[in-house]
Amino acid sequence: MTEWIIEGGVPLCGTVPVQGSKNAVLPILAATVLSQSPSEIHGVPNLKDVHVMVEILRALGMEVTFDVERQTIWVDPHGLSNGEVPEALMSQMRSSIFLMGPLCARLGRAVLSQPGGCSIGTRPIDLHLKAMRALGVRIARENARLICQCGHLRAATILLDYPSVGATENALMAAVLADGVSTIFNAAREPEVVDLEHFLVKMGAQIEGIGTDTLTIRGVSQLHGVVYDVIADRIVVGTLAVYAAITRGSVRLTHIGPEHLLAVTDKLQETGSTVVTDGTDLLIRAQDRPKAIERLETAPYPGFPTDMQACMMALLAIADGVSVIVENVFEDRFKHVPELNRMGAHIWTDLKTAVVRGVPHLTGAQLEADDLRGAAALIGAGLAASGTTIVRDAGHVDRGYADWVDLLGRLGARVKRRDP
Ligand code: UD1
Repeated sequence: MTEWIIEGGVPLCGTVPVQGSKNAVLPILAATVLSQSPSEIHGVPNLKDVHVMVEILRALGMEVTFDVERQTIWVDPHGLSNGEVPEALMSQMRSSIFLMGPLCARLGRAVLSQPGGCSIGTRPIDLHLKAMRALGVRIARENARLICQCGHLRAATILLDYPSVGATENALMAAVLADGVSTIFNAAREPEVVDLEHFLVKMGAQIEGIGTDTLTIRGVSQLHGVVYDVIADRIVVGTLAVYAAITRGSVRLTHIGPEHLLAVTDKLQETGSTVVTDGTDLLIRAQDRPKAIERLETAPYPGFPTDMQACMMALLAIADGVSVIVENVFEDRFKHVPELNRMGAHIWTDLKTAVVRGVPHLTGAQLEADDLRGAAALIGAGLAASGTTIVRDAGHVDRGYADWVDLLGRLGARVKRRDP
């Protein structure tokens, strides 16, 4: 287990750039399967999940070079021949399910297994399967494997019962090469979905309704490689903004898309933080103890992102007053609560509701991280707490936060990591 060792009580101050978006780059890498020629992708963060996706693409026969320093990936799809995603890689990352749509569209077959990922709920894939079946994919289960077969995909009308990010992306990546005009109703509108839409259009796809919940896709016969810059990671921006607020510091985050953060910055302002947008930069400053928020509910974009719920809870744990948080997206996303309570927080949960009675101070403790965003929240709590906090983490942080010790150090935080 990696241990994150945090000496709390130092206000974070300074200016840092923000990494490219994990949740945008993963489907974009999967989408390179659709192309007939090489692509060059910029702004790729050095994350474990990205390395897993690179390994998967290589296992499929593609040539992939990842220059971590230059944050650039080159993908040459010419060798693509194998439609089978190795189970060992599939189990490491839920996003491997994104390969289903592109592989079916390009090769007419795919073999996958149940995806892994954070343990934040049951995380079914029924909506992915429903969309694929509508497009003409026959799916059989053989033990833990999903055998997908189809001829040429045919266009379909797809109604998603819920605006699932992953199911929208999978359906989209399949539909761009299907015969005819497909429509996806109740599509997810997250900025990462929109980034994939822009990537696909640049590759030659025909998509109308970009950024809306109704996507109309006219299938084309082939797509070509492109040079593409991935958007900044809004969850990393949000995490650092909360770290600034929780330590009563002053941080400038550069070259981001502030408009993607409105739900988060709005709530930060409610807690008393000053948030200023300066072109593509975001400045966050806090001086006083945060104020409680009457009610915060997670929801699909443009609502408050579930990926920021844990961090916001860490901030509200030291707020003046009682806050109520409702987690509507995932059913098991309060695993950080007992850990925050070990630091002296007063948080009570029942099903999808958490009641946070703010305390003036948290105290350093030994904590266990159980998922990616929960781990980030515990590190944030450690930054605010008195004394030393140790967060034991089975690799979650490295899945979402690139060079985290370094970056936090540049903002003055006293954080070290000890690897096993
Ligand atoms: C993506 C993000 C994740 C974020 C989530 C919600 C990536 C790599 N991950 O995950 O960080 O927390 O969006 O913003 O982009 N559901 C079903 N059936 C399905 C698919 C989903 O019931 O077939 C449910 C899920 O269990 C969950 C809800 O829909 O309760 C939202 O999931 P979804 O939007 O699909 O999230 P992911 O794409 O897995």
